[in-house]
Amino acid sequence: MARDNIELARGKYTKVESPDESASPTLRPSLEASYRRSNDSNFSDEEDVDEFDPLNYDAGTLKRTKDRSSRHRSNIEPEPAYKKRQSWAKRWLVPSKFGCFLLSLFFACVFLLLGAGGFWAYKYKPPGAVASDKWYPAPRGGTDQDWADAYAKAAKMVRQMTLPEKVNITTGTGWRMGMCVGNTGPVERLGFPSLCLQDGPIGIRFARNITAFPAGITIGATWNADLMFEHGQAHGKEARLKGINVLLGPTVGPIGRSPMGGRNWEGFGADPVLQGIAAAQTIRGIQGEHVMATIKHFVGNEQEHFRRPWEWLTPYAISSNMDDRTLHEMYAWPFAEAVKAGVASVMCSYNQINNSYACQNSKLMNSILKDELGFQGFVQSDWLAQRSGVPSALAGLDMSMPGDGLKWEDGLSLWGPELTKAALNGSVPMERLNDMVARIVASWYQVGQDDKKKFPEDGPNFSSWTQEKVGLLRPGSDDVLTGVVNKFVDAQGKGKDAHKILARKIAAEGTVLVKNEGNILPLKKSGGKPKMGPKYRVGIYGEDATVNPNGPNNCPDRGCNRGTLGQGWGSASVEYPYLVAPDEALMAAFNNKTVKVSKFTTQEVPKLQKGKFLHNQDLCIVFANADSGEGYIQPQDQIAGDRNDLRLAKRGEVLIKQIASECGGDGSSPTIVVLHTVGPVLVDPWINLPGVKAVLFAHLPGQESGNAIADILFGAVNPSGRLPYTIGKKESDYGPSRKIIKSSFPDPLWGPQQNFTEGLYIDYRYFDKHNIQPRYEFGYGLSYTTFRLSSLMIQPKLPFFKHITVLPPPENTTVTAPDFNKSIPDAQEALFPVGFRKLKNFIYPYIDKVSDVSRTGRNTSVVTNETVSNPASSYGYQGGHPGLYEEFVEVSASLTNTGDRDGSSVVQLYVSFPQDYHDSVTGKKVDFPVKVLRNFKKIHVPGGNRRAEVIMSLTRKDLSYWSPERGNWVFPERGTYKIMMGFSSRDIPMKMTGTLD
Ligand code: BGC
Repeated sequence: MARDNIELARGKYTKVESPDESASPTLRPSLEASYRRSNDSNFSDEEDVDEFDPLNYDAGTLKRTKDRSSRHRSNIEPEPAYKKRQSWAKRWLVPSKFGCFLLSLFFACVFLLLGAGGFWAYKYKPPGAVASDKWYPAPRGGTDQDWADAYAKAAKMVRQMTLPEKVNITTGTGWRMGMCVGNTGPVERLGFPSLCLQDGPIGIRFARNITAFPAGITIGATWNADLMFEHGQAHGKEARLKGINVLLGPTVGPIGRSPMGGRNWEGFGADPVLQGIAAAQTIRGIQGEHVMATIKHFVGNEQEHFRRPWEWLTPYAISSNMDDRTLHEMYAWPFAEAVKAGVASVMCSYNQINNSYACQNSKLMNSILKDELGFQGFVQSDWLAQRSGVPSALAGLDMSMPGDGLKWEDGLSLWGPELTKAALNGSVPMERLNDMVARIVASWYQVGQDDKKKFPEDGPNFSSWTQEKVGLLRPGSDDVLTGVVNKFVDAQGKGKDAHKILARKIAAEGTVLVKNEGNILPLKKSGGKPKMGPKYRVGIYGEDATVNPNGPNNCPDRGCNRGTLGQGWGSASVEYPYLVAPDEALMAAFNNKTVKVSKFTTQEVPKLQKGKFLHNQDLCIVFANADSGEGYIQPQDQIAGDRNDLRLAKRGEVLIKQIASECGGDGSSPTIVVLHTVGPVLVDPWINLPGVKAVLFAHLPGQESGNAIADILFGAVNPSGRLPYTIGKKESDYGPSRKIIKSSFPDPLWGPQQNFTEGLYIDYRYFDKHNIQPRYEFGYGLSYTTFRLSSLMIQPKLPFFKHITVLPPPENTTVTAPDFNKSIPDAQEALFPVGFRKLKNFIYPYIDKVSDVSRTGRNTSVVTNETVSNPASSYGYQGGHPGLYEEFVEVSASLTNTGDRDGSSVVQLYVSFPQDYHDSVTGKKVDFPVKVLRNFKKIHVPGGNRRAEVIMSLTRKDLSYWSPERGNWVFPERGTYKIMMGFSSRDIPMKMTGTLD
């Protein structure tokens, strides 16, 4: 009875006839292969390929017989010329003893060389390569008070599930086997639906009637925590209205170790605290709308090149090698903030970390995420980032996405039936499987998706694979069943709640004004005094000012740079419902009675046109851009995903120089430069040209691009964006970590090695450490008004006095994870139901016959033979030890708007740790950056010397460093701290020092 139900559930539509009734069972990697992989889980996880092919061997001699035909041919054909040429060899080498000796010597040498090569390869360890620690068994979810109800409900449901029902929930049905980019199997018998997982993070991918919001880097540049929340909320609402259960965003990895990293624009900027606050706010917004958020990509996915095995022809993906302190203080920090905010899901990344794939790395998932950070939700793999079956389960992976095996749509899942077998033979303990399922089901309860009033949608109402109303339900399979797949639900909000209002606001606030000589901005809509003729003449230049002539959605996943740049490319991109281009918005904004606007929206301004387009202008506005994206697309002139350099695309520099030197004929008319970029670009080749009067980094503004830039240029919005990264004067200013690794030599046997030896020193921390003057520093941005900070006050708070200990006092949760029946069920329970018709390449949880479960679980040894790892001192709390988040210090100051205009300022709080500090346990000197950002606040103050109070806090964690030796956050108990409040990482008017001893 139970099985019938699950058959209906998993194969909801399979009862409909399809032409391929006799589809044979799919071939899949043997469980043995997964065992073998698992024993070496930290190093080698590719499928073991058996090269012995009985069909190609002569049964008697066991010699290859492929070239039998040539043997016969030689009898009848005349002796070929090459044989004649070889006859000297026959004469001299074969018959004589000397010949035999030479031949043997030759083979011996070859053998020795191969042997030595093999030994070298076996022993070879790339410089800096380290092996990730192991950590078992996987901690169970259900230990945090905030999740107690959700786990109680989940436990009740999971206890009633059969083995295939459990597996069904953990494994995707395969690429294009449902409407979303990821779809899990349901357990309809118990009311648990198939989950729809869809990208994020800037809007709903592949859907219509949604909002193309500004990208993460633009949101980061607002430095406005409220807007970050509002974006999450609107994004979550659109997801709910489209029937999406799990949104694949926000992105905080990459963080921006290299300013050229292809996906930096998906995240919020090159600093862990900025990323962490933005991520937490976004998650609160999304999950408040009853949609599960996913924080991704955990961790170290800092470049696209080599991110996956074979995509760049190396058998292994790149390994991001980093020490524990770097991991904690830089790359895992924003993930910790996300967990603290209650995120439902974490996506593990494609790359290896310390030579172990992120999705089977027990140190990352079991130890850091689930033990130390007390993560209560589920870990899902990035798409095909799972590289093994059993080891990934034991290392803490909870959901396989999209469910396929090592290749797209291959139907050879590493889980699905393989996980069923692994559970039946004990390779994956039932306790682990129960925990995987409980984590997924609890997350569903936690955001309220069981409540129809909160989450009314019954499955997705859009298709990722077609724009037609009616389409295939499982386009990846041989199923011909069709249905209504697109209901075109309008999710964009209406009236004053229309999301385009928010998108415009974010795009404007995420625009950073870096130069405004002579206060040329804001512009007047009526123009100014014309040099000649009756009207003020404005010229708009650059392809980036206008929409791609083939339409804004011309290239799939925005994988080309044509027309104005509103988003980068890849899985984070969305279909624009519309795109307001800058030229359109500016032409509409200028008063056409007094201003004549002309546009020349290409990258070349031919001589012929100069008179018309440059010489007479009173003002020139030039647009240029720099694009990047995800590694699976390689547009022209670009390495796949990452940037080649930090220059503008399409000779943007040449265009800017030409316009700036010729605007008004001789450069006497001012030029305003607007840049749409995925991150920093070098501006030094032109920034000091006398004609360049104003420069704006408008980042990736999304659909409201033109309106937002018009808001800033005309002063409807006073700029308050700040750079979420540093703009150097030259590329080398960013240090060695800027380089994208493009060659795998000599590490192909290990995968290219990327050693994060710079540790904590990326972006402004690197510039500070090496005393490099940036062109525009992290946190910098101008306003149309001016601000002053005064009256800095620092007040220790009560917990500071109570707990002024070096380590947070041990504290363990009293909430216990639910228990489940650990016994292995009867294998009969997992058989395909009688008469079940399988779809090609669709992933099912069932097995064909009981004898498929042939072995006892060898992999349990990974858990039982090793010492069970020690839990962290704060086991079980979401986000880690609660003491880390206690506010130790309150910092306040007074902010005065000293100009006439109303405006907002971003007040930034930096901390400088004791500079000559030695850890009292290890005796080692602890190196600290010159300063680190620890908090920020955007505050609106009306003009005319009005004031507002700024209050921010610092927690124990903010004032601590991670000690790998102690495995804990250490609050330096001696030395001098500096607490600094300012307007950027280099403009810090308020400082206070305090010494502890
Ligand atoms: C990306 C993820 C994305 C997934 C599903 C992968 O290529 O790395 O960020 O969520 O595809 O589209």
